[in-house]
Amino acid sequence: SFRQNFIEGDRWKYLTDGLVVTLEITGAAVLLGLLLGFIVAIIRCTYLKTGKMKIADALCRLYLTVIRGTPMMVQLLIIYFVVFASVNISKTLVAIIAFGINSGAYVAEIVRGGIMSIDNGQMEAGRSLGLNYRQTMTSIIMPQALKTVLPALANECIVLLKETSVAGYIGIYDLTKGGDEIRAQTYSPFLPLIAVAVVYLVMVMFLTFLVGKLERRLSANDRR
Ligand code: ARG
Repeated sequence: SFRQNFIEGDRWKYLTDGLVVTLEITGAAVLLGLLLGFIVAIIRCTYLKTGKMKIADALCRLYLTVIRGTPMMVQLLIIYFVVFASVNISKTLVAIIAFGINSGAYVAEIVRGGIMSIDNGQMEAGRSLGLNYRQTMTSIIMPQALKTVLPALANECIVLLKETSVAGYIGIYDLTKGGDEIRAQTYSPFLPLIAVAVVYLVMVMFLTFLVGKLERRLSANDRR
């Protein structure tokens, strides 16, 4: 029977091992995406507000256009088969780089929107207190911007968690590929694929719950 077959080969391990890989890729890609996204957002805002960093801003715009204008899966394939074609590097690391670069573009737009949403009077207030552009940015603008974008950044983590399911296209045994491998070996699609879906769903529901809590806490702080 399927049950026998499923348990005999210790096939659950495909799911548990796959889950670990999915979490590794997601976690590291989120960090890389945040790093890239903040750098790009700061460069773009600096150009918009001061006119400095014109060339860096143009490069950032190119990055945003290309990354957000092409499918994640195509980017993953290009980074694996073209960019790192002749480099001896682990697939997981390639995936982290690909998903991190992708996420960075979305994070950059979230953070830039957050910075731009802070009233210009805050910059003027900082400057008239004698702070320079950089000091005003780090001590007055960024703390407020960060607070407004926190829920959107948490949502980006959720998107990324689900998006890593395409990692199987470069032969990575993540959660999705693990479940599909069980399907292929047992000729029974139902249980393994539904199990994969349930695992993602539970993780997403947990993260959504945390985002909701975060939002409530942030808005509670605003009631004064
Ligand atoms: N599936 C979409 C694509 O292929 C979304 C990419 C990832 N989105 C994100 N916010 N990181 O372009």
